[in-house]
Amino acid sequence: MGETLDRHRRIFGERAPLFYDEPLELIRGEGVWLLDAHGRRYLDAYNNVPCVGHANPRVVAAVSEQMATLQVHSRYVHGVVVDYAERLAALHADPLSSLVFACSGTEADEIAMSMARLTTGNRGFITTEAAYHGNNSDVGRLNDIGGRASVGKPVDPEVRGVPLPDGSRRFVEGVAAAIRSLDEAGIGVAGVLMCSILANEGLPPLADGEMAEVAELVHAAGGLMIADEVQAGFARSGRWWGYEFSGFEPDIAVMGKPMGAGVPFSGVVAAPDVVDRFRSSTRYFNTFAATPVQAAAGMAVIDVIEDEGLLAQTTQVGRHLADGLRGLGITDRLGEVRNVGLFVGADWLDADGAPDGQGARAVVNAARHAGVLIGLDGPHGHVLKLRPPLVFSAADADQLLEIIAAVFASAT
Ligand SMILES: Cc1ncc(COP(=O)(O)O)c(C=O)c1O
Repeated sequence: MGETLDRHRRIFGERAPLFYDEPLELIRGEGVWLLDAHGRRYLDAYNNVPCVGHANPRVVAAVSEQMATLQVHSRYVHGVVVDYAERLAALHADPLSSLVFACSGTEADEIAMSMARLTTGNRGFITTEAAYHGNNSDVGRLNDIGGRASVGKPVDPEVRGVPLPDGSRRFVEGVAAAIRSLDEAGIGVAGVLMCSILANEGLPPLADGEMAEVAELVHAAGGLMIADEVQAGFARSGRWWGYEFSGFEPDIAVMGKPMGAGVPFSGVVAAPDVVDRFRSSTRYFNTFAATPVQAAAGMAVIDVIEDEGLLAQTTQVGRHLADGLRGLGITDRLGEVRNVGLFVGADWLDADGAPDGQGARAVVNAARHAGVLIGLDGPHGHVLKLRPPLVFSAADADQLLEIIAAVFASAT
């Protein structure tokens, strides 16, 4: 590992991002397990890309078979691609029936922003203060508006960040203030772009009916609701889409990460008139998007989710995992535990009960050494993120809880 890591840093640069203080060199994955170059096994509770399990045989067979038959760029008609697009669109709320495919969440979010500007004639975007939606110059303007990374950055006149809901502060009030501010500046609201379950924000709970209120306000202001489903979509929440979990119907939904189970694939779904306006104004195309291999991977993901009953399983196992964490009772450093289906966020606190990003980072590193891979989220980086593959069973969750209990005990 030492030598490969040195070469990695030489060729990609010292600052190229890697997880963990002691980075991992993984060589194989199977189901919920990953294997490193030393033959050590890790329970994957980070996941989200190979969402139906590592090396899922149905995904492997579908992709291999299609690759061995035909793989071309996106500007030919192909039955597999059309079949997949129709099946995917049918999983969405009614008016969302027309698609644009891309390869990454970043690209798809930028397509959605462009659609919203073209449809509304407005230029302003509203997002959360702690959002992450991608790296490029347009969507990157929405990231971390109120967080640590924004300090010293020029304020973007077309973007407003809304504080996260916290029990006493309602999200909808922040959205109303942002709409007023964009209107007063004469910019107008093109849309609210947000993760429909506030995943990167650490899963702060939205009140019942609050997102429907947000949608009503945004529509009244002439804007569109854009649901970023890059983390929330494909059964993660126990529903197909996070917007169903959070109780609203978006005008545009953006999909990515789990969509191709590791084959780069993303998409934007909207009403036909929204997509037509975008197509005719931009003549957008993307060489690697909408190819037969992507569609074969995407179809296999939907097949596995449906055939293996994963919508119900993520609900059950997510609840089991969250309840198990709440019941550990090992340390008062573990604060509130929240879950949206099989996506769990647990606050890590310092001795005074304040968010402890540094402590949470130490826990994530200790978990990696104990054989469990988890991550971090939230505005202070203090929310432990547990997001296993959708195929995670209750027995896998019990194993995770046993290991994590020991990690928490030694971290306190
Ligand atoms: C909510 C959300 N949207 C968009 C993106 C960007 O996706 P990608 O890295 O595929 O460009 C991410 C990536 O982490 C994300 O979490």
